Amino acid sequence: MDKNCHLNYPDWRLFALLGLLGSSFEPLIKERTFMTEKFNIAEKFALFTEHWRPKVVASLNGQELKIVKVLGEFPWHTHESEDELFIVWRGRFRVEFRDRLVELSEGEAIVVPHGMEHRTAADTECEILCFEPAETRNTGNIEDDHYTAPNAVRI
Ligand code: NI
Repeated sequence: MDKNCHLNYPDWRLFALLGLLGSSFEPLIKERTFMTEKFNIAEKFALFTEHWRPKVVASLNGQELKIVKVLGEFPWHTHESEDELFIVWRGRFRVEFRDRLVELSEGEAIVVPHGMEHRTAADTECEILCFEPAETRNTGNIEDDHYTAPNAVRI
């Protein structure tokens, strides 16, 4: 047998050291492994029914991908420093600005720049993907008993 197949004393010390390092980085390793697991957006939407309650499905670079079901009209609001990207996953969606209205169908998307007052709406239930900085309040500069949703709700 090739003698190189056997580990001698210094090799075992090296392995022990790597083991220690591995255990101290375990949370980071687990988090990074979790990030690489695939997820199915339609299946995520099937897990809840409420409207205007965003759920986080991914986090990266300080931003979050949220999914949300919407129906009816959301209150007018502004985000002081966050731009919001909306992508229509299913149904028809409307983004209203004070001077115009944008209607979006499945597969269409829009960026709402920070500082621009807007209201989102849907006449029939639709499903939206939203990409924005983590901790962005859904109602921006206003607080509403019914519409302001808790942040960081993972699904
Ligand atoms: Ni907004």
